[in-house]
Amino acid sequence: MAKRPYIVGNWKMHGTRSMLSEARAIDRAAERLMKAEVALAPPFTLLHAARKEADLIGIGAQDCHAAEGGAHTGDISAAMIRDAGAGFVILGHSERRADHGESDADIQAKAQAALAAGLNIIVCVGETEQERDAGKAEEIVTDQLVGSLPPCAESGEKVTVAYEPVWAIGTGRTPTVEDIAAMHGTIRGKLAEIYGDAAEEIRILYGGSVKPDNAAELLAVADVGGALVGGASLTADSFLGIVVAAA
Ligand code: G3H
Repeated sequence: MAKRPYIVGNWKMHGTRSMLSEARAIDRAAERLMKAEVALAPPFTLLHAARKEADLIGIGAQDCHAAEGGAHTGDISAAMIRDAGAGFVILGHSERRADHGESDADIQAKAQAALAAGLNIIVCVGETEQERDAGKAEEIVTDQLVGSLPPCAESGEKVTVAYEPVWAIGTGRTPTVEDIAAMHGTIRGKLAEIYGDAAEEIRILYGGSVKPDNAAELLAVADVGGALVGGASLTADSFLGIVVAAA
């Protein structure tokens, strides 16, 4: 069954309480834009308040620790995220892989912890420009999928994959629609190998310089089930421009 497009805004390290008005505006509009499933991932500090401000859209975190608790100064567990009212967590974003040296194994451990805590997960994969130029994009992405995804998932409904070519993030550059279609096809095939029939329920988002003016074209590509949006999710106007294009 075709699912609604899933449009997720990742605020990254942006947002103080004054930005909750954007979450509220997005939430109010979401009521009349139900053809898309809409979610925001604000920083940890805003999770609880965002959940209270916005009760129709999904609210999620941008990372979690793999452990249930303990001596991990500065870290946040999946159960804490759930307790703050969030329903999902983004894992393995390329900025976490690059800035914090997260390996596929780290991300897989976080994914298992998140599912065990009752969170849905969005696992990010994507190649660098050098890897694409070297003709290794598909190999890199499939290796990341195998290494980062939980080997078993009780339901594909709880898992989303986001394909984000690193060189397209925040640059204004995007792959061609043919390249996106080819990579999403490759990802779909690998998901079927990992999960069998459950793979059919897994949405594959595209992320990297999605804007209101290119969203319709990108979201129309075969097997693009939605978008993971960074910069353009920071204001309700631009984010809703993408949501409208999806719906
Ligand atoms: O998580 C979002 C992605 O990194 C895309 O960011 O839309 O600013 O290119 P961007």
